[in-house]
Amino acid sequence: IPVDPFDLVIFGGTGDLAQRKILPALFRRYCAGQWPEDAQIIGAARGDHTPDEFRKMTAESLRQNAPMRAQDVDALNGFLQRVDYVSLDALSAEGWQSLAKKLKENRVRAFYFSVGPSLFGPLAERIRLHDMASEHTRIVVEKPFGHDLGSARALNATLAAHFDEGQIYRIDHYLGKETVQNLMAVRFGNMLFEPLWNSQYVDHIQITVAETVGIDGREDYYERAGAMRDMVQNHLMQLLCLIAMEPPAKFDPDAVRDEKLKVIRALDPVEPHHIVRGQFAAGPEGPGYRDVVSNPRSTTESYVALRAHVSNWRWAGTPFYLRTGKRLVARSSVINVMFKDAPHSIFGEEAGRHANALSIRLQPNEGITLKVTIKEPGPGGMRLIDVPLDMSFAEALGPENQDPPDAYERLVMDVIRGNQTLFMRGDEVEAAWAWTDPVIAGWQARGDVPKPYDSGSTGPGDAELLMKRDGRRWQGIK
Ligand code: BG6
Repeated sequence: IPVDPFDLVIFGGTGDLAQRKILPALFRRYCAGQWPEDAQIIGAARGDHTPDEFRKMTAESLRQNAPMRAQDVDALNGFLQRVDYVSLDALSAEGWQSLAKKLKENRVRAFYFSVGPSLFGPLAERIRLHDMASEHTRIVVEKPFGHDLGSARALNATLAAHFDEGQIYRIDHYLGKETVQNLMAVRFGNMLFEPLWNSQYVDHIQITVAETVGIDGREDYYERAGAMRDMVQNHLMQLLCLIAMEPPAKFDPDAVRDEKLKVIRALDPVEPHHIVRGQFAAGPEGPGYRDVVSNPRSTTESYVALRAHVSNWRWAGTPFYLRTGKRLVARSSVINVMFKDAPHSIFGEEAGRHANALSIRLQPNEGITLKVTIKEPGPGGMRLIDVPLDMSFAEALGPENQDPPDAYERLVMDVIRGNQTLFMRGDEVEAAWAWTDPVIAGWQARGDVPKPYDSGSTGPGDAELLMKRDGRRWQGIK
């Protein structure tokens, strides 16, 4: 179904994110017929390009980043005709009049700030100054949304000086992932799971986001951020919220975000002995972290494992173990809900201990596996084994669902539709920083040095110990 007519201005339109993610996502939606007749994208950046040069650059990026079927190649020209460019400066009046002239009246007007946070304020101000904002105006901002609570508050205040919260779309691209949205469908669309979704039946929950990639090309940013700011404060936190939140009364932006916020606010401070930091060392696949950032004394972590507690009625006493890292053995994002043992085994001690586990694979090979206990086939008595009830979404839903749409396709269209459900609200981001900051401050105060781990491994040995001390173990990454 086509969305309403829109003008989408991408500040930083020639930058990496715009060219690699945003424009390809818009092109895919164009090919899917979701664009109305009269919609336009205006790239805006400091570079002195003509609209034609920008179109050429965009065409090249699309060829590289958006796999094209034969019919898409035909659509490319049509798409490019709706792409325009203005050269402008966020810090002066230069170029703003030309931009204003290109915008049309009475339609959705979205401004995508695909630029560093230091330009959010100046851009917001200029938009107001040149009278470009209307009730149909939306602002899209990327992560990192701040570096800590103080800077996130300042950014929120800057945006709030010019726009209502209902106009601000803070992106966490994990929320746009098909399977992350599926978390809500699985939890709240089935009768099966929700009655068991609490500390009475769930022993613990594991959230793993393992990556094989390193930090190449982003050394400066990453060295200042580290895994805690780059991944845990946002992506893993969002997954934790969706897993732990109470059912919202309806699938509406504030109802969902209110429930997520309650989870973050219910998080206990993390105990120092419940957190492990790691930093990848050199391995057969490449140099170690310190060589990559050319800082032999760097104490930035490329891996974090921690035990969190959501102190509320539903989850009291159920640990949430989170881990994420770069240069690990496999790319795998998965949530494991580990259920408790049955209260009494009628089969006796020799049948061993068996517990159900629900694995929700976010990427790759999206799907769900439920581990159930059955009798081992054969005449040899009552021996129990665990078998997976496995559902791969690609298999169950057909080959057209083999490659779920990129998160940005969903998110950019939601901006145009005016649906904020999958975007973070200002108070959510602040609450997440309020939980993250003391962890980082603790490391700094203690002069903590991350534990080295081999590239291509499952992370530092101490992360295994974190679990072992609790009589538990991580589910395999591969
Ligand atoms: C980004 C982080 O937000 O998410 C990166 O800055 C990380 O460090 C990336 O690699 C992971 O996203 P995805 O979609 O590849 O899981």
